[in-house]
Amino acid sequence: MKKALLTLTALALLATTAQARSWEEIKKSGTIKIATEGAFPPFNVVKGKELTGFEVDLANQLARQLGLKVQWVTQPFDSLLIGLQQDRYDFVIASHGITPERAKAVDFSSPHYCTGGAIVSRTGGPKTAADLKGKTVAVQVGTTYLENVRKVPGIKEVKTFPKDTDAQAALMAGRVDAWVGDKFTGLDLVKAQKGKLAAGNLLFNERIGMAVRKGNAGLLKELNAALTKSLSDGSYAKLSGQYFGTDVRCR
Ligand code: ARG
Repeated sequence: MKKALLTLTALALLATTAQARSWEEIKKSGTIKIATEGAFPPFNVVKGKELTGFEVDLANQLARQLGLKVQWVTQPFDSLLIGLQQDRYDFVIASHGITPERAKAVDFSSPHYCTGGAIVSRTGGPKTAADLKGKTVAVQVGTTYLENVRKVPGIKEVKTFPKDTDAQAALMAGRVDAWVGDKFTGLDLVKAQKGKLAAGNLLFNERIGMAVRKGNAGLLKELNAALTKSLSDGSYAKLSGQYFGTDVRCR
């Protein structure tokens, strides 16, 4: 937590000095640079050599609407917002929950989906926040899962992993008692593990947004307009249906 706080403070400082590309510059170049992690299925994931997932398809759709080509950048989750401030790309779409802490360092778009952090354990394991007492829990580093798990009293140990998929693997291998992660990811995981894992309670709800460099109002406006269009013309609903069998927009 200390490290996470420090990083965000440093980010807030950087935010006042870096210079992002304005909407006019992006438009003129014809290509928008978008960053994601590529290791967070089904939202952003590299399959074989292809970057895919709900957020990747959605961002490609938004860029198409804006008349832009896309250049994708993938890097570790906990360095994504830092790279934004270093002007390495124009925006980030990587399932970032919109939190007051992060909003000090970056500006968020309107939410592009709503979800929550859920507990998953091996069958017979902890299912509620109260059950986590005395247990070890795996989470991805730098996430809202870590932040929220820290608030649950009595947990024996929180183990952090650079990648969410590694946190899941720790649960499957029996090295931790529970995993806390995205509720949709959790559902997929439980299904794929056929009876070995069980879904527990939701710990918290969150709205997920795209992040632009603080103050990049022009780009934010265009992204929000493209998202609004996608939400209203059926393209968002179609994509969401493909990935989740349901519409994951915020209501
Ligand atoms: N929604 C969580 C958060 O805001 C997790 C995001 C993780 N994203 C990823 N690409 N691994 O922290």
